[in-house]
Amino acid sequence: MRPVLAFDIYGTLIDPHGIVLELDKLIGKQAREFSRRWRDKQLEYTFRRGLMRQYVDFSVCTRQALDYCDTTFGAQLSDADKQHLIQHYGRLPAFADVGPALEALRHNGMQMVAFSNGTAGGVRDLLQQADILDFFSDIISVDEIGSYKPDPAVYQHCLSRAGTKAESCWLVSANPFDILGAAAVNMPTAWVRRDPAVTFDPWEIRPTASIEQLTDLISVVQNHE
Ligand code: LAC
Repeated sequence: MRPVLAFDIYGTLIDPHGIVLELDKLIGKQAREFSRRWRDKQLEYTFRRGLMRQYVDFSVCTRQALDYCDTTFGAQLSDADKQHLIQHYGRLPAFADVGPALEALRHNGMQMVAFSNGTAGGVRDLLQQADILDFFSDIISVDEIGSYKPDPAVYQHCLSRAGTKAESCWLVSANPFDILGAAAVNMPTAWVRRDPAVTFDPWEIRPTASIEQLTDLISVVQNHE
């Protein structure tokens, strides 16, 4: 059985910190720290919502995390500013290695799906504006079952929708919590170490492979076939 590659979106294919330039125009030198905190809080909200079984979609977590950071940083963003930032969040850029990596994988006949905490519609629009939508045979969202990564149920959902067994479906992600979640249901995993400052959580579970660039993925997958 040829492997299916399930790609995480935010942080792996799309750069959530592509928002820094817009933040810089609004709040100046705190922009980078604000962006980091915004992303961390957004993820924290998904974890908590999942545990509490109080699902709201990813755009709500993103907006509530923005409101939280606005207050914490004393940024005093207006509603129009926040609206502008949220709109820009829908136009975040892909990392530079993404196009060439996906092209090479497609050339090799790999089946690729997008698998995200974002809603299917939100992810579709995001991938389209980044010009990478056509690489994917499906967009699979946690929204379809109303929980969040790393709930095992969302990885099972990904597998059943992709029509494949865990052993044949790679989870490709730059987010260590996502790698751990997929490995826990026996999927092979490729951790894209985009930020050398990020430490992989020292748990008893390790990624199947660690790569620095997405363009290294093809040889990893081929070596495991
Ligand atoms: C996603 C989150 C993990 O795209 O960023 O699923």
